Amino acid sequence: MGQRKNWAILIVFWAVVIFSGCATHNAAMDFHVEALDPRPPGSAYLKSIVVYDSWSGNTGKIADEIARVLNCPSVHVDKAAEYFPGCYDLIVVGSPVHGGVPTDKIEEFLAGLEDVSASAVFVTYGAPLFGSWTADGCLSSMEEQLGQTSVGRFKCNGLHKIFRTYPSHPDDTDLSEAARFAEGLRERVPLAESPKAAQSE
Ligand SMILES: Cc1cc2nc3c(=O)[nH]c(=O)nc-3n(C[C@H](O)[C@H](O)[C@H](O)COP(=O)(O)O)c2cc1C
Repeated sequence: MGQRKNWAILIVFWAVVIFSGCATHNAAMDFHVEALDPRPPGSAYLKSIVVYDSWSGNTGKIADEIARVLNCPSVHVDKAAEYFPGCYDLIVVGSPVHGGVPTDKIEEFLAGLEDVSASAVFVTYGAPLFGSWTADGCLSSMEEQLGQTSVGRFKCNGLHKIFRTYPSHPDDTDLSEAARFAEGLRERVPLAESPKAAQSE
């Protein structure tokens, strides 16, 4: 009887830990450089592209929101070859976290990139408890493949198809945080000094 009670307490404890985490908003962003001096809105054109992989649509939603703010294409990695090589001031790459790393397609895409001036990375993740930690590892490995070019990183939750954690994520709050991240990128990537921006004007 005593042992059953202990098991019940343990199960309830972990259920509370896991699902209380799932009820909160865990979107987070981090920038590696300071914002540049404010410039008048619309004074310069930043040539950007968002490339992502997405198995069940979560990462695709975030990609589309970042691309909307940056006013650039949001391209599934399967179609990325049509857009590269290209002359971009900023390349933003997104992936779902799979076993603590990006998908094979994103790894392959990153390995093939050349001449990157500025980049940013984002992931969606859904594992309970250690998910955020795996997302950080995944973002770091993506940034490593991009050399020293990453301006910032973003992560948020996405419904996990197997565990069913984080239902309805990414939600409106995640999307508005993604938009804020994209604004932050725009404030940090040099435009006036960029020959690529000048070329595209
Ligand atoms: C095969 C597989 C492995 C996963 N591995 C992780 C993981 O290591 N850590 C994590 O937090 N989420 C993991 N997830 C959950 C996904 O990262 C998460 O649900 C993500 O939002 C899915 O994005 P998508 O809809 O763009 O594919 C995994 C999901 C799948 C299908």
